[in-house]
Amino acid sequence: MKIAVVGATGLVGTVMLKVLEERNFPLTELIPVASEKSVGKEITFKGKQFKVVNMETAIAMRPDIALFSAGGSTSLKYAPLFAEAGTTVIDNSSAWRMDPSKKLIVPEVNAYVLSIDDKIIANPNCSTIQMVVALKPLHDKYRIKRVVVSTYQSVTGTGVKAVEQMMNERKGILDGPMAYPYQIDLNVIPQIDVFESNGYTKEEMKMIKETRKIMGDESIRVTATTVRIPVMGGHSESVNIEFENDFDVADVKALMASTPGIILEDDIDNLKYPMPKDAHEKDEVFVGRIRRDESMPNTLNMWIVADNLRKGAATNAVQIAEFLVKKELI
Ligand code: A2P
Repeated sequence: MKIAVVGATGLVGTVMLKVLEERNFPLTELIPVASEKSVGKEITFKGKQFKVVNMETAIAMRPDIALFSAGGSTSLKYAPLFAEAGTTVIDNSSAWRMDPSKKLIVPEVNAYVLSIDDKIIANPNCSTIQMVVALKPLHDKYRIKRVVVSTYQSVTGTGVKAVEQMMNERKGILDGPMAYPYQIDLNVIPQIDVFESNGYTKEEMKMIKETRKIMGDESIRVTATTVRIPVMGGHSESVNIEFENDFDVADVKALMASTPGIILEDDIDNLKYPMPKDAHEKDEVFVGRIRRDESMPNTLNMWIVADNLRKGAATNAVQIAEFLVKKELI
């Protein structure tokens, strides 16, 4: 099993390598790929050194799977070239997510739609992934009518430059390189990605459209407000869900606790609820603060936290790869 990690020197690529190593992914050959400036750099994987190669070399090596996290335009250009060489691409960018001919996958929710013909598979947006893991079992049991989500997203979701901006600001350096239009430390920015003509940001529209596509149900109404906060890693979400059918809060908690990939942390007497610092480097989605919305019938409030670089990106991609291997779909 030859695995290429495209963007191996980047923030998500580095975590992909770590997750492949930790989960003991059955690979026989690792091909780390990055831009020309990184070619020849050494990457350590399972105690061995691997040299970074460029795209052309990687395509010629015909990997079985390529995990891509090198930006949207790189993916648009190169993912089809890998696919033509027989590689199955799992792409973390937004390039292919809403393409009707491509599957958008969160393994716990819809891996069953994958077939051997899917040569470019899209990994969803980080905030969408952690939300749908919790929504799916609830939709199956109570049927979701509408979701209102507000996010509290960390700076690692933007990349290295954003981490540097926040750390500079913490040291009092306010004229360093800016990833955001405003100071992020000691601040909250109600804008993630660019604005669209309807007044929503692209990130908000991703959450709306991707949720329906992954859940396979265009009737689910979703509205989102996505917000950047000065937290290093881990995204949090306040989610309000209106169901067609009524529920029992204790049953909802039991359902969350028994769903693979979810950890229920909901014990308010002991001040237990999910927080991003606790989700750090964890592969699961953490759920808590489950309570009835007393202002609306059949409606629930919950709080969802996950490591955005793990379940929100690298882990989800590796889990898709694991599914393909297990089901012999490559
Ligand atoms: P490099 O480090 O050589 O620039 P991040 O999202 O953290 O900025 O990382 C982006 C990743 O994608 C890096 O590993 C980067 O490599 C890689 N990358 C960017 N553009 C290309 C390209 N045209 N070909 C291959 N890798 C690319």
